[in-house]
Amino acid sequence: MKRILIFTATFLFVASCVVSSAPFGNREDVEYSQKLWKALESSKLVGMNAIRSTPYTGVHPHGAILDTMDTKLTIGDHTGMVIVKKNYGGPDVSKAAVASDPDMYLKAVTVMFKRETGYDSGNQDWFWAKFKPDGSLHTNPKKMMLAGRVAKGNQAAGCIACHAGAPGGDMIFNFDR
Ligand code: HEC
Repeated sequence: MKRILIFTATFLFVASCVVSSAPFGNREDVEYSQKLWKALESSKLVGMNAIRSTPYTGVHPHGAILDTMDTKLTIGDHTGMVIVKKNYGGPDVSKAAVASDPDMYLKAVTVMFKRETGYDSGNQDWFWAKFKPDGSLHTNPKKMMLAGRVAKGNQAAGCIACHAGAPGGDMIFNFDR
């Protein structure tokens, strides 16, 4: 009996290490994403009272129609740049349709937030998140939550792999800072 208990305890310990050592989507990332969403709401970048910016025609994989806003945001005692991209889609989506009823077409809110120095030094310290319109997180096909260093170590897919190819080496496509 004792042996089984020790075995089970060891197994659970190892399993939890495996889970928490994932480069993204772990509990800490999800908690931070919730703080980020709240701060975005207070700054009127997401949610019911969000400021609207002009939608434009997007490119894969972000969506047919997009809008992007950037500003500075404070979470706890850290202030950093945030870029919020709203991804619109659905049948008969168009710039005009999104402009008149954005909430009907909003599929995802993808966010890059510049964390404290050293958070992810190889990748410009960006925190990545893909939110649903209600502030919960999208998942990848492996059911991992898309928040944190997404998907660090994966050369082929994920926010980091693709944004690493953005001009200027800052991982930002649309403008250089
Ligand atoms: C296959 C490539 C690719 C992947 C994967 C990708 N992006 Fe992007 N992303 C782009 C491109 C291209 C743009 C510029 C597109 C535009 O705005 O028209 C962009 C723009 C953005 C922007 C606006 C800032 C900028 O770079 O211009 C944010 C924020 C963003 N992506 C977040 C994310 C997040 C978060 C993820 C992962 C959940 C992600 N992206 C995954 C290609 C990608």
